[in-house]
Amino acid sequence: MVKEITEAVQFIQSKYNTSPAIGIILGSGLGSFADEINIECEIEYSDIPHFPVSTVEGHSGKLICGTLSGKKVVAMAGRFHYYEGYTTKEVVFPIRVLKFLGIKTLLISNAAGGINSSFKVGDLMIIKDHISMLTINPLLGKNIDEFGERFPDMSEPYKNNLIAKAKKIALDNEINIKEGVYVGVTGPTFETRAEYKMLNILGGDAVGMSTVQEVIAAVQLGLPVFAISVITDIGIRQEENTITHEEVLQAAKDAEPKLTLIFKQLIKQL
Ligand code: HPA
Repeated sequence: MVKEITEAVQFIQSKYNTSPAIGIILGSGLGSFADEINIECEIEYSDIPHFPVSTVEGHSGKLICGTLSGKKVVAMAGRFHYYEGYTTKEVVFPIRVLKFLGIKTLLISNAAGGINSSFKVGDLMIIKDHISMLTINPLLGKNIDEFGERFPDMSEPYKNNLIAKAKKIALDNEINIKEGVYVGVTGPTFETRAEYKMLNILGGDAVGMSTVQEVIAAVQLGLPVFAISVITDIGIRQEENTITHEEVLQAAKDAEPKLTLIFKQLIKQL
């Protein structure tokens, strides 16, 4: 695994020999954030040794390297989900590559279903904590010491100082921002009415099919994480919970300008 990561890192460095400060993962329907980056190099996932290849509509599958808000960034346009059939090790492979490329902070976005009854479609929710709802932990198996310790502490997986900065940015720009607990599920089915209700009772505010495993890998690597969900549908209001993937993508696109503003200003402050 370490050898595979080293080979992927060396390949990327052979195309783009700059150490990025910030890694960004762009969620479903959120790919046009990449237009904000002053692009210096784009690398297709399929060209990178050992990199998984993305299969979902709305995920284009490339690394975008360049400058944003005066900082060197590397953005993943397209991520890997367990429901696509990847192993958890494959899902978190890019996070480890980004770490070994030199990033100091990881910013994550995703599309998620609302399970807090006060949420509306298009709301942004800062993730302050997560619940893994039977998603497989990517650190299972023999520990690889190069990635970090056997039993990582998960008391602050989403850094409070980054959350505070983002809340101030939202306030200054009159963006109504929520904060809450993200429940990670495997998908690919959306939740049943009974499941949305259960997740709400368990303390979840939003639910989605990504992020949790990526964050676990990042925490083990000692990478500070900031993550935002775009609420693309409202599962918890029982009369509203029919959902299509297209609706999710459209809602994410509509909310993208707000997310872009927050990420750009946050990056400036890092
Ligand atoms: N459930 C799970 N994943 C999702 C949802 C949802 O309602 N919306 C967007 N991703």
